[in-house]
Amino acid sequence: MSRNITIKFSVIGLGYVGLANSMVLAKYFEVVGFDQDKKIIANLQDKKSHINEDGIKNALKSDKINFLATDSKKLCYEKSDYIIIATPTNYDPEINFFDTSSVESSINDALELSPDQSLIIIKSTIPIGFVKEMNAKYKTSRIIFCPEFLREGSSYEDAANPSRIIIGSHLDEAKELGSILKRTSNKKEVAVIHTGSDEAEAIKLFSNTYLAMRVAFFNELDSFALNNSLSSQEIIDGVSQDNRIGRFYNNPSFGYGGYCLPKDTKQLLSNFNSTPQNIISAVVESNKTRRDFLAKKILEMQPKKIGIYRVSMKANSDNHRSSAILKLCKHIKDSFDVEICIFEPEILLSDLSDFELINDFEKFISDIDLILANRIDDNLKKLNIPIFTRDIYNEN
Ligand SMILES: NC(=O)c1ccc[n+]([C@@H]2O[C@H](COP(=O)([O-])OP(=O)(O)OC[C@H]3O[C@@H](n4cnc5c(N)ncnc54)[C@H](O)[C@@H]3O)[C@@H](O)[C@H]2O)c1
Repeated sequence: MSRNITIKFSVIGLGYVGLANSMVLAKYFEVVGFDQDKKIIANLQDKKSHINEDGIKNALKSDKINFLATDSKKLCYEKSDYIIIATPTNYDPEINFFDTSSVESSINDALELSPDQSLIIIKSTIPIGFVKEMNAKYKTSRIIFCPEFLREGSSYEDAANPSRIIIGSHLDEAKELGSILKRTSNKKEVAVIHTGSDEAEAIKLFSNTYLAMRVAFFNELDSFALNNSLSSQEIIDGVSQDNRIGRFYNNPSFGYGGYCLPKDTKQLLSNFNSTPQNIISAVVESNKTRRDFLAKKILEMQPKKIGIYRVSMKANSDNHRSSAILKLCKHIKDSFDVEICIFEPEILLSDLSDFELINDFEKFISDIDLILANRIDDNLKKLNIPIFTRDIYNEN
C-alpha cells in the first residue's frame, strides 16, 4: 500500500497498544501521538522507546515512518480523520468494574478538539455496553470499538500481523476503516469482521477469558499431577495430541497474569451480572487456588531463604504487571516466616520495595537454598540449588 499523507491518525496513550499501532500505521499515514506522561513523549521525540521490544525500537528509528509524539493535545487531535484511544482501563474492585475514566476524558477531548467528522476508535478494553452508553451520552455515533489482541513482548509484530480485525460498527466510515486496516496488515488474508458494538466488546472479554481458562485448566491438571506424584508432562503430552485440544498454550505456570487476563476476566464476570454461569467465576477464582496450593508445596520443602528468579510474566518481557510469581511470593511473605529475595535485572515498573531486590546473578545465588522460577532459562540450568518451577516446555 502506498503512503497516504492526507489521512491523519491521532493516537491517545502511547503504551503497548498505542505505540505498537502507531508504528504500524505511521508507515502509511500521518500519525500524531499524545500521552499524559511527558517523559514518554520526550523519549519518543528522541526516538527512544520506553517499551523494551526490538520491533518497536527498530520501527521508531526507521526513516520510513511519519510519526510525531507531542505533549500538545491540540496538535494531536486537530484535523484528525481517525482518533485511536489506547489508555488504561484498570479493574476497580470497589465498583466491581473497569475504571474507564481515562477513555472517557479522551472522548471528551476528541469531541472538543476535533469537532468534525473524525471517527473515535476505542482500542482500550472496555466493559460490554460502554460504546452504546458513550454514544448516547454525547449524542453521536462516531464512537466505535475495535478490540486489540496484541501480546506484550511482541506488540509490534502482533499489531502488524493481527489474528483478526474486529470493527464494532456497521457504519460506512467503519467499513472504510476496516479496509484501511486490512491494507496495513502484513497478513493480506486477515479476516475483517464487522459486528455490533456490544458484540465487539464481548469478543474481546470472552477471548481473554478463554485464554485464562485454558491456562487455569492446564494449571489444575498440573496441581493434580503434583499432588498425586504423577508426571504432568506425560499427561499434558497425551491430552494435547487431540487436534481439538492442541499442543499449544498448555505449559503450566504459577497462574495466568499480565495486565489483561486478570482484569478482563473480572470485568466479564461483572458483565454476566444476572446471567447464570459457573465457568467465569471459576476462572477468576482459579489463580488464588493455584497460588495457595503452590505455596503449600513450596513450604513443604522447608526453605530458609527463597530466591525469586525474575518477576516478569514472560521470558522476553520487562513487564511484571499482575505477575503470578509476584503474587505467590507476596502471599508466602505475608503468611509464613520465610526470607525472600528477588533477582530481576530489568525492573522498570511498579514497586517491589517490600523485597530484597538483587540484580547481580552471582550475588543472588550466593545465600539462597531454593529458587522459584515461573519460567526456566539457561542461567538456571547448571545450578546446584533446588529449583521449584512448573515450566515443562520452556516456553511462555
Ligand atoms: N497490553 C496488552 O497486551 C493489551 C492488549 C490488548 C488490549 N489492551 C488494552 O489496551 C489498553 C491500554 O493497554 P496498554 O498495555 O497499552 O497500557 P499501557 O499502560 O502500556 O499504556 C497506557 C498509556 O496511556 C497513558 N495514559 C493514561 N491516561 C491517559 C490519558 N488520560 N491521556 C493520555 N494518555 C494517558 C499512560 O501514560 C500510558 O503510557 C487497556 O485497556 C488494555 O486492557 C492491552
